[in-house]
Amino acid sequence: MKMNFLSVRDVTAEEFAELIKEALKIKKSRKRERVLSDKILALIFEKPSTRTRTSFEVAIKELGGDCIYLGLSETQMARGEPIKDTARVLSRYIHGIVMRTDSHEKLVEMARYSSVPVINALSDLEHPCQVLADFVTIKEFKGELETLKYGWIGDGNNVCNSTILACAMMKIELTVACPEGFEPDRSILRYAEKIGGKVKITHDPKIAAKDADVLATDVWVSMGSEHERAMRLVSFEGFQINSEILELAKEDVIVLHCLPAHRGEEITEDVIEGEHSVVFEQAENRLHAQKALLKKIYSRE
Ligand code: CP
Ligand code: NVA
Repeated sequence: MKMNFLSVRDVTAEEFAELIKEALKIKKSRKRERVLSDKILALIFEKPSTRTRTSFEVAIKELGGDCIYLGLSETQMARGEPIKDTARVLSRYIHGIVMRTDSHEKLVEMARYSSVPVINALSDLEHPCQVLADFVTIKEFKGELETLKYGWIGDGNNVCNSTILACAMMKIELTVACPEGFEPDRSILRYAEKIGGKVKITHDPKIAAKDADVLATDVWVSMGSEHERAMRLVSFEGFQINSEILELAKEDVIVLHCLPAHRGEEITEDVIEGEHSVVFEQAENRLHAQKALLKKIYSRE
């Protein structure tokens, strides 16, 4: 059966841990395994991307495959062709779909009607490939995951939702500090709780930072929320990773940011450029994590 990766929920805790391990192995050896030989994937991006697009294109090519990039205005979907028709047509040409979209329902519809694997390259609900790479980075720098304290400061957005699921799976204690009205998705929180996740929601960034081994944030204004920018800048004031917040964390805390970053908003220049920041390793790990994911998906076909 084909495997989709729309959510962190689409793999078990064991599989997630296995993907992390495999990604680190791939990173170390940089060996070229041609698991995508003769396979062509479509990259459908409704929103801009630097890391996700490039790391997927390189991963696919280094694994012996090829890909076709389809931007927002380049398909008939932009003119209203149903996703269910697009899915069935593309499935007859290509071997997989990597999709970045403004609506998670569109991804679910694409996966339902496509006979080839569909991978979430960011939706309004989740960014599972990002968080897989984040966990590769955490494993790389921290080793054992289970005893870690993870603090998220900022928007309860797509990256935060996937982080909640991954922390629940990996038994990491997570505290999310967000302004009122910007909490993570309720169904994600319910699911995390159901599988035994320890997630605390607070409106005080200091609580999330206290004794944290990992501190993470993301932009205050995600793609598609630009019309709310003025309101968000006011609401998010204080929800910033800065040197004062860092002081509260453990001495060897690592700071994550999926990038792109807005210096002076969710994170300060000195912190993102400072000794605790691992954001460029994290960005590199997108490549290795996605290779591990593609290997898993296509070696079972
Ligand atoms: N972190 C991330 O997904 O970056 P891009 O938007 O550049 O792909
Ligand atoms: N939350 C951000 C992540 C960008 C990689 C967004 O959705 O725009």
